Amino acid sequence: MKIFLGITGASGALYGLKLINELNKKRDVELHISITQDGVTNINLETDLKLNTPFEIVEKLSLNINKTFVYDVRDFAARPSSGSFKIDKYIICPASMGFVGRVSAGVSSNLLERVSDVALKENRDLVVVFREAPLNQIHLENLLKLSRAGAKIIPAAPAFYHKPNSIEDLVLFVVGKIFDIIDIEHELFQRWGAGYENGMQKM
Ligand SMILES: Cc1cc2nc3c(=O)[nH]c(=O)nc-3n(C[C@H](O)[C@H](O)[C@H](O)COP(=O)(O)O)c2cc1C
Repeated sequence: MKIFLGITGASGALYGLKLINELNKKRDVELHISITQDGVTNINLETDLKLNTPFEIVEKLSLNINKTFVYDVRDFAARPSSGSFKIDKYIICPASMGFVGRVSAGVSSNLLERVSDVALKENRDLVVVFREAPLNQIHLENLLKLSRAGAKIIPAAPAFYHKPNSIEDLVLFVVGKIFDIIDIEHELFQRWGAGYENGMQKM
């Protein structure tokens, strides 16, 4: 399975990094990554990872070099830029409201936006994990436009019914939700009803 992961400059860089780590563990996943300039800035601001360029992510996260490809966000000649290069699932996480606005307006000013446009025109699965609060009416209308165009919209908002103990638990819940949508098996959180015995829910 080929997966494209785009990371923008919205807060929540950790979601993007955890996604990369978890996808790297999956034997049959080939990962195609691109990170915006503001995405790199936020990775450096919000996590312990210090990147000079997006390409350093492979070494710094010890990713499998045989199935990880990183593209410059300005490189419109990169393979995922064309619909003829078949990507199975596209994820933008975290997605900035700037990204949402541009893609919903049909603007492709960088590789992430072009690739998302390709996913929509080819009717392929595109998951947009946005992080903004509160949302103004422009944000809401743009998210609705993307949803109507076929994108799956996920707020970067963890649940609490799995009784999280750490930031890691919260982040993994959102990553698990993304995996559910793109049909990847996982045990990243305990599902509701997992403790259902003798007709009783264990609380
Ligand atoms: C620390 C920090 C946190 C930010 N958080 C958000 C956010 O949660 N959501 C958002 O839409 N933009 C956020 N921004 C603003 C985006 O980085 C900015 O709009 C940028 O132009 C997005 O560009 P990109 O989509 O090319 O990455 C944040 C910026 C900084 C520096």
